[in-house]
Amino acid sequence: MDKKPKIAVLTGAGISAESGLSTFRDSDGLWEKYPVYDVATPEAWSKNPALVLEFYNQRRRKVAEAKPNAAHHALVELESAYDVTIVTQNVDDLHERAGSSQVIHVHGLITQARSTKDPNLIFDIRYNNIGLDDRCPLGSPLRPHIVWFGESVQHFEEGAASVETADKVMVIGTSLTVYPAAGMADLARPEAEKVLVTLESDFIPTGFIHYPQKAAEIVPSIVKDWIAGIKA
Ligand code: APR
Repeated sequence: MDKKPKIAVLTGAGISAESGLSTFRDSDGLWEKYPVYDVATPEAWSKNPALVLEFYNQRRRKVAEAKPNAAHHALVELESAYDVTIVTQNVDDLHERAGSSQVIHVHGLITQARSTKDPNLIFDIRYNNIGLDDRCPLGSPLRPHIVWFGESVQHFEEGAASVETADKVMVIGTSLTVYPAAGMADLARPEAEKVLVTLESDFIPTGFIHYPQKAAEIVPSIVKDWIAGIKA
């Protein structure tokens, strides 16, 4: 059987906006309401773990209430014609709940907790809170499995390889401001077809066609065109 052409999809908070989850840097974004250094840094965790846990417990409750939208679902359909890898900066699980089969989380996953003693000890907690007194089997506190500012991204090499080898690249709902994840768009091959779906963008990476539209509105039609291109 012929191998399917490859697509890499880079996603950020904008793809989940229409599922009711706040983005970070839009006018009503999370970092307007919560000073990022108070809730999303190792220093914040040392200074006030209760506040950090409450921030992520609230985020997790919102994720539990949210449902995948038409953009998440369309990316699943893409798998009928392509080998699709989603590299997401999002910590929600909406790609998985929609049914995407290859999802790489470079900034962690809110439905997991990890040991503060051994970062390789990671636990599925579904939508349950993490409490101040919760401990890993080694006896150390549990923290959210989230990449905070100043920490290393996860699975970078794997994500980068999927972009470098892709025949088409779709970037959705990210301001492309947080590195190194933002730099992944630049790894796309010059001959790859490249699209960027964001309501607003300060810059468009080289070779990308920009669709300044809501993800849930435009992604399904891009997906339809890309599938039709294969089957034509
Ligand atoms: N459809 C498409 N794009 C949208 C929509 C929508 N419905 N709503 C907002 N956007 C776009 C915005 O125009 C913006 O370009 O999504 C982008 C959201 O940008 P950010 O809020 O900066 O989110 P993101 O790029 O995912 O943030 C990166 O920053 O603090 C961190 O770790 C956090 O992973 C996150 C990282």
